[in-house]
Amino acid sequence: MAIKKFTQLPNHIAIVPDGNGRWAEQRGLPRLSGHQIGAENMYHMINYLNEYPIKYLTLYGFSTENWNRPKEEINGLFQILEDFIDKTVAEVHQEGIRLRHLGRIGELPRGLQRVINKAVELTKDNTRMTLNIAFNYGGRTEILEAVRRIIAEKIPPEDITEEVFASFLDTAGLPNVDLLIRTGDELRLSNFLIWQTTYSEYHFTRVLWPDFDKKDIDKALLSYSRRRRRFGGL
Ligand code: IPE
Ligand code: MG
Repeated sequence: MAIKKFTQLPNHIAIVPDGNGRWAEQRGLPRLSGHQIGAENMYHMINYLNEYPIKYLTLYGFSTENWNRPKEEINGLFQILEDFIDKTVAEVHQEGIRLRHLGRIGELPRGLQRVINKAVELTKDNTRMTLNIAFNYGGRTEILEAVRRIIAEKIPPEDITEEVFASFLDTAGLPNVDLLIRTGDELRLSNFLIWQTTYSEYHFTRVLWPDFDKKDIDKALLSYSRRRRRFGGL
């Protein structure tokens, strides 16, 4: 463990693991093999970050806009997540990691819903680290649904503080994102955690997600540790 070189570490890291498709295409492989390797890399990253005192890790697996992809790729992504949770849940639980899901679970295939719900239930009392899987997640949808619930519950307008509003989001109870990492050479947020990243530090890298390794995450952590966060103050 190389904690010593960091003067500050993020409490909550969010990752947009982009570049699976290009990684596969560069090798003449089907895009789904890139997603498969990408899922394996998530497993390595979870284990590696679990060595640090980082309490929250949020991974963007599937956005509400990813439904625009070909059906075959979408179904492949669903299968990959299902297998991934199936294969790793026992170990994740043993490591003291709590799994949470962010997004609209009801639109996912039944089998995948079941696997997610089972894993969430099994790990709900774990406290070492919380791993949030954003799957069929979109920031705008999340905010709209919060507004709908607030109205349905007839909360008086003057009671709606930032804290109250945040408690209606999928991320209720989670701290804001400290460090947002995006791989794959794209400089955008893509509807990810738009409420929760207003004062995040951003780290973009050209490295494609399947190639993103320990030295790359350490680079991101080192960059974060050098930032001066002022939150609009001095
Ligand atoms: C990111 O990889 C994974 C998901 C969006 C599910 P991409 O599939 O976006 O890979 P590129 O951007 O085409 O390389
Ligand atoms: Mg992409």
